[in-house]
Amino acid sequence: MATLRLGDKAPNFKAKTSMGEIDFYEFLGDSWGVLFSHPADYTPVCTTELGTVAKYKDEFNKRNTKVIALSVDGLESHQGWITDINDTQNTTVNFPIIADEDRKISEMYDMIHPNADDTLTVRSVYIIDPDKNIKLMITYPASTGRNFDEIIRVIDSLQLTAYHKVATPANWKLGEDVVISPSVSNEVAAEIFKKGFKEIRPYLRMTPQPERN
Ligand code: BEZ
Repeated sequence: MATLRLGDKAPNFKAKTSMGEIDFYEFLGDSWGVLFSHPADYTPVCTTELGTVAKYKDEFNKRNTKVIALSVDGLESHQGWITDINDTQNTTVNFPIIADEDRKISEMYDMIHPNADDTLTVRSVYIIDPDKNIKLMITYPASTGRNFDEIIRVIDSLQLTAYHKVATPANWKLGEDVVISPSVSNEVAAEIFKKGFKEIRPYLRMTPQPERN
């Protein structure tokens, strides 16, 4: 199977998860999705990551986003580990963890990088839009726990730029000024961006963040 790239359709699959069997597309419904893999159950960094994601449930809900984790461990392992995550991270895991024991989904999503580890999944993140297009792919090494504030930040950017002719600058956070897309002329920008805009260079025009749809 060809490597997945931005803009590709996220492949559908059926999977066993800690919350029962799912069809991925049915699970996502009309929501945005975050599919993320971790190397192994009962490992320290992964424990903190899944605990953090559980605590961000309200943030994902506010953004109409469903999250789902994956590793190549089995269901029994997931269930035991969830108890540990809940205990040690003081939370309740509230999203499914896929048991990809035959590695079919890991291979479909290119989550095994043999030169890093030939059996375990690396820390992959996919953000998928409601049309099931892949909008973001990031790969982290096993030794680096992910920054889920960054994942939320990218969802904010993607959801804003899906509806407005803007892009978000370096280190942008929700509520901060955004840049106007180069395809928009100054005349059109004056029409669209009622709060005005500042032309720093003809190609660099800033405007207050439009309201999210
Ligand atoms: C961890 O989650 O702590 C971990 C997993 C695999 C390799 C290194 C660290």
